[in-house]
Amino acid sequence: MKTLIIIFLLPCILLFLVHAQVNDDNFDPYATLFSPYTKQEWRSYQEKKINEGRKTELTFEVSYVNGTKVKGAKLYIKQLTSDFHWGCGMTHRILNNTAYKKWFASRFTAADFHNELKWYWTEATRGQENYADPDAMIKFADEHGIIVRGHTILWDDVKYNQKWVRKLSPEQLLEAANRRVDSVVNRYKGRLIGWDVMNENLHHNFFEKRLGKNASSMFFNRVHKIDPNAILFMNEFNTTEHVHDEYAPPVKYLRRMKKIQSFPGNSEIKMGIGLESHYGAEPIDFHYVRSSLDSLSQTGLPIWLTELDVKMDPNLRNSSGLQVIYLEEILRESFSHEAVKAMIIWTGASIDGCDVMCMADENLVNTPIGDLIDGLMEEWRTGEIEAMADFNGSCQVSVFNGGYEVKVVDPVSNASSCVSLKVDKVSIPDKMVHVQIMG
Ligand SMILES: *[C@@H]1O[C@H](CO)[C@@H](O)[C@H](O)[C@H]1NC(C)=O
Ligand SMILES: *[C@@H]1O[C@H](CO)[C@@H](O)[C@H](O)[C@H]1NC(C)=O
Ligand SMILES: *[C@@H]1O[C@H](CO)[C@@H](O)[C@H](O)[C@H]1NC(C)=O
Ligand SMILES: *[C@@H]1O[C@H](CO)[C@@H](O)[C@H](O)[C@H]1NC(C)=O
Ligand SMILES: *[C@@H]1O[C@H](CO)[C@@H](O)[C@H](O)[C@H]1NC(C)=O
Ligand SMILES: *[C@@H]1O[C@H](CO)[C@@H](O)[C@H](O)[C@H]1NC(C)=O
Ligand SMILES: *[C@@H]1O[C@H](CO)[C@@H](O)[C@H](O)[C@H]1NC(C)=O
Repeated sequence: MKTLIIIFLLPCILLFLVHAQVNDDNFDPYATLFSPYTKQEWRSYQEKKINEGRKTELTFEVSYVNGTKVKGAKLYIKQLTSDFHWGCGMTHRILNNTAYKKWFASRFTAADFHNELKWYWTEATRGQENYADPDAMIKFADEHGIIVRGHTILWDDVKYNQKWVRKLSPEQLLEAANRRVDSVVNRYKGRLIGWDVMNENLHHNFFEKRLGKNASSMFFNRVHKIDPNAILFMNEFNTTEHVHDEYAPPVKYLRRMKKIQSFPGNSEIKMGIGLESHYGAEPIDFHYVRSSLDSLSQTGLPIWLTELDVKMDPNLRNSSGLQVIYLEEILRESFSHEAVKAMIIWTGASIDGCDVMCMADENLVNTPIGDLIDGLMEEWRTGEIEAMADFNGSCQVSVFNGGYEVKVVDPVSNASSCVSLKVDKVSIPDKMVHVQIMG
C-alpha cells in the first residue's frame, strides 16, 4: 500500500519541484537544459555539425580564357534555393485569403495539410468523394514551388476513421481502404514529395486488428506501385518528444520500418521518417532528442519533422517566454542533424487556430515565435554575398548547400561571366569551382 501511494505521489512531487524551480525569481532556463554541458558547449557542437552537414567551403578560382588568373576578381554570390525546407501546416482557410497566401509563399517551401487530404475529409459520406479543397491547395502550392506531403492516406487511430468505415466487416474494410488508396494516390501521383501511408501505426492498430498484422506493409506496397517515386513515410508522435513513451521510441520505430521494408515487393520503396514533433510536457530532455535523431539518422533515410510545436503548461510563470526558448533549442538541435531535411511548423497564422502556438496574429503580425523562426531562417541561409578574389584569382567562401548563381567580374575591364551551381558534397566533391572570364 505504501509503495502504491509513493508511486502515485511521485509524479506530483516531481511536477511540484519543476514548477517551484521554474517559478523561482532567479530561474535560469538554460542552467539545467543541457547539463552537464553549458549552453555554449551544446551550441558549439551544433555549429560544428551544421558546418559539416549543411554547408560547403568552396574555393573559387577565376582565370581568363588564356589561363592567367584574375587578381581581385569580384564575386557576386546569390542563393536561389536551399536543400533544407522550412514548411508550415496549411488549411483550406488559405484559399480565399490573399494576404495569408502571400505570407505563406514568402517563407515556406514545404507544406502539410492539417486535415484536407484525410479520408474523413474527402469521403465523409460513403461513396461521395470531394477533392475540391486539396485540389485547390495543391494548385496553390504548385504555383509557388511549395512541396507538399500527402498527409495522410490512412490512419491507424480508430477515432479518426469515419463512422461508416468503423462499421465495415474486414472484407468490406479492405475493399474500401484499397479504393481510398487508389483514388487519392492516382489523383495526385507525381505531384507530391511523399505520402504518410498509415498515420501513427506505432501507437494504434485499427487496420492491423481487422486486416491482419501485415496491413500497413500491404498498403505501403499498394501506394508504391501507383506512385513509385514518392517518399513513403511513417509518421508518429512521441519518438523524440518523450523518454517514457513505450510505443514509439526510435528502436521500435526502426523495427517497424524494417518490417514494412521486408514485406515482399517493398524493398525498392523510398522510405522516409516522419516525426510529428509535438513537444511539450516540460522539461524536454535534449539529450534524448539528440540521441534519438542520431540513431534514426543511421538509416541514411530522410527525416522530416512534420507537425512541430511546443505545448506549454499555462500555469508556468512566463510560459510563453519559455516556449520560445524551448522551440529555439529544438529547432537548433534538429537543424544540426544533417538527415533532417525539413521542419514543418504547426501552426503558422492565427487564422488556423493557435491552441498550441502561432507564428503570426490575425493581422499576420509576428508573435515572438514568428520572430524566432524568421530569425533562424535568415541565419540558415546564405542569401546574397559579395567576395573578392586574392592576388591569385582565388577566393574561399562557406555557403549553405543549395542552388546558386555566381557572377564573376574582372575589376579592370568589367568583363563578367555567370555560372549556376548546385552546392553540396556530392555535386562538388573537391569543393573547387573554376570560372573563366573572356578577357
Ligand atoms: C473566407 O471565407 C470565410 C468563410 O467562407 C469567411 O469567413 C472569410 O471572411 C473569408 N475571408 C476572406 C479574406 O475573404
Ligand atoms: C507521449 O508520451 C508521454 C509519456 O509517456 C505521455 O505522457 C503523453 O501523453 C504521450 N502523448 C500522447 C499524445 O499520447
Ligand atoms: C505477413 O507477411 C509475411 C511476409 O513478409 C508472411 O510470411 C506472413 O505470413 C504474413 N502474415 C500474415 C498474418 O498475413
Ligand atoms: C519571459 O521570458 C523571456 C525569455 O526568456 C524573457 O526575455 C522575459 O524577460 C521573461 N519575462 C518575464 C516577465 O519574466
Ligand atoms: C599565390 O600563389 C603563390 C604561388 O603559388 C603563393 O606563393 C602565394 O602565397 C599566393 N598568394 C596568395 C595571396 O595566396
Ligand atoms: C567598370 O565599372 C565601374 C563601376 O561601374 C566603373 O567605374 C568603371 O569605369 C568601369 N570600367 C570600365 C573599364 O568600363
Ligand atoms: C591573358 O588575358 C588577359 C586578359 O585579356 C591579359 O591581360 C593577359 O595579359 C593575358 N595573359 C597572357 C599570358 O597572355
